[in-house]
Order: sequence, then C-alpha cells, then structure tokens
Amino acid sequence: MQSRNKEVKRIGILTGGGDCPGLNAVIRGVTKPAHDQGLTVLGIQDGFEGLVEGKAVQLYNKDVSGILATGGTILGSSNKGDPFHWPTKVGKEIQIIDRGEDALHNYNGWNLDALIAIGGDGTMHISKKLSEMGMNIVGVPKTIDNDLEATDQTFGHDSAIWVVSEALDRLHTTASAHHRVMVIEVMGRYAGWIALNGGLAGGADIILLPELPFTWEYIYDKVIERNMMGKRFSIVAVAEGAKPLDGEMVVKAKDIKRTDPIQLGGIAEVVARNISDNTGLETRYTVLGHLQRGGSPTPYDRILSTKFGTYAIGMAMRKEFGRMAALKGSEVSSVTIEEAISAQKLVTTETQALHTAKAVGVSFGTEDY
Ligand code: F6P
Repeated sequence: MQSRNKEVKRIGILTGGGDCPGLNAVIRGVTKPAHDQGLTVLGIQDGFEGLVEGKAVQLYNKDVSGILATGGTILGSSNKGDPFHWPTKVGKEIQIIDRGEDALHNYNGWNLDALIAIGGDGTMHISKKLSEMGMNIVGVPKTIDNDLEATDQTFGHDSAIWVVSEALDRLHTTASAHHRVMVIEVMGRYAGWIALNGGLAGGADIILLPELPFTWEYIYDKVIERNMMGKRFSIVAVAEGAKPLDGEMVVKAKDIKRTDPIQLGGIAEVVARNISDNTGLETRYTVLGHLQRGGSPTPYDRILSTKFGTYAIGMAMRKEFGRMAALKGSEVSSVTIEEAISAQKLVTTETQALHTAKAVGVSFGTEDY
C-alpha cells in the first residue's frame, strides 16, 4: 500500500460506466498538466475491468492531443466491471464473486500513488469501497443523466439535451406537416433531467418523467385540447423510466452482469399506441437511444470536462483523496465521495425547470403537475 506521505508521482485514470461526451476532454485535462508537473499517467482500460484484470497503458501527451472534441473514451469503458460484483462462469452457472483484492493487487503492482475515477453513481459507489481498501481515489462526476446530487451539473448532460432538442426540432416539422402526435423516448432511468431539460429546450407539449407517475387521461386530454385549439399536432417527450400511476416501468431486458441489471426501453411505443387508440389521432414514436450518449461534446461540456480534469489532477497532487470534483455554481471544488453518493438528484415539485415548463403550457400527465 502506498503511504499518504509519499509524493504523488504516478497516477492511474479510468472511465467507468456508460460512455458520455466529454470523457476524452477530462482525460486530456488530467494528462497534460500531469506531464507538465513531471507525473506519469497510466490509462487503465475498460473501466474497473482493467483495474481487476491488469489492463493499462502509459499515456503520453501525444495520446491526448486532438481528443478534446471526440466522443467516447480512448480508454474504453464498461458497466459490467464492478470488482465487488464480478460475474464468473462456474460450470453452467454465472456466479457473482468479489475481486476487490485483484484490483488492489494491480493498483499496488503499478505503483500508483492515486487513481482518478471518472464516472457516475455506480463508479462512485465502487470508488468509495476502493478508498476503504486503502486506494487514493479522486472522483470526477460523469453522466448524461445529471443525477448526482453533490454537483450542480455532471458533464455529458448538456450534450445529451442538445441532441434531444435537435431531435425535437426535426420531429416538429413532420408533426406539423402531418398533424400527428410524435412521441420521443429519451434516456433517464430514475431521474428525468434529460426529458425535462431536453423537452423544455425542444418545446415539448407533454413531458413524462420517472419521478411523476402519469395518468393516461391527462395525456389524452392535452392532445385533444391542443387539437381543438387549432394546434393539430403534439410532441411528447418521455423518459425511458416513466410509468403510469397504476403501472410499472417498461423493462426491455435483464442482464445480471450489469451493476444495474435492468435495461429499460419501450415506453414510447406504449404511449404512442395508447394515444392513438384513445384519441383517434395519428401517432408515431422515435427512440433516441444511444444517439444521446455519442458524438462530440458541446462547448459547455468541453469546458466543464476540462475544468474537472485539471481540478482532479490538482486534487491528486494535494492528496485530497476520497473526494470527488464537483461544480458549485460556476466554480469547481470538491466533496467527499460519501457525500456524492448519499442521494440521487431527482426532479421534484420544487424544481424550477418544472415550474418554467408548466408556465409555458407543458403537461406532465398528472393532476398535480
Ligand atoms: O446512465 C446513463 C444511461 O445512459 C442511462 O440513462 C441509460 O438507462 C443507461 O445508461 C443505458 O445503458 P446501456 O448503454 O448499458 O444500455
């Protein structure tokens, strides 16, 4: 185990969970200043999988040059590599085993003084356990879902809502030309920030969120009311985790190898069918899926990711371990990883964007909202 008094000379960096625009900008933001300070940077491949299985490459300036605007991650990522929840084939069965000691063995074997873990809620939970085992961890908050309570914004969210907004602009033209109801399914399992902010930016008429279970009649009433007022089309933005008051989320598949075994998908089709059957209006649906996670980060995300990266390497050098970089207002500072995972940031009836949307006529398919 590395002593906390030892000067920080060798740092590891990994990207965990689903990919997200801005990951490469963080890697660049860490690596460039690290080299300027004479540090060695080891890029651990495929998230925590690489930490457990010993897959890493040394990163040089040339490796991070020209990646600011690229999507994905040059290190690879995985949402199946939880060291403490490691699926292993035993005979014909898959058993879950704990490989935390292997992760620690590689951390020590690589002679790391600190590990920068870039990821969302799942990555921070794993990071906390690795910290408790003695690793010097610095977290950087990533997720298009924007559902980490301790930071005002995660990078990736702005890029995702840009895609949603662009898609809604395009769907508007067909909706209007054909007098249709267009339903768009966006990501967001338990938190509806993408649907809310993307829907607000793209002028959705109805937004359905995981946090506010909806009632079918309110949706039908809204599209009929719009029709009667001469607006012969409607746009519905539905989060993949949205569900009716008396129903369940639409689960597409289950995979026990994932940290969260549930794969969602299909609610837009259900919403579109029910609107069509119950109002007689012509309806179509689109599932935006991974288009929201891919491609180049927006300027906002490039700046935020670079700030997070450069701040994180500063944290490592100052030995602010067991903490996560966090945006507070317009400044980056840090919080304990424990605080970062203490609560998921959800849309509530106090959320200003919800009131804003309501003020401009958006329906949330509920009585209260
Ligand atoms: O957490 C980010 C996220 O994009 C969620 O919004 C979504 O439910 C999930 O990842 C999808 O994960 P996968 O790409 O593994 O299906």
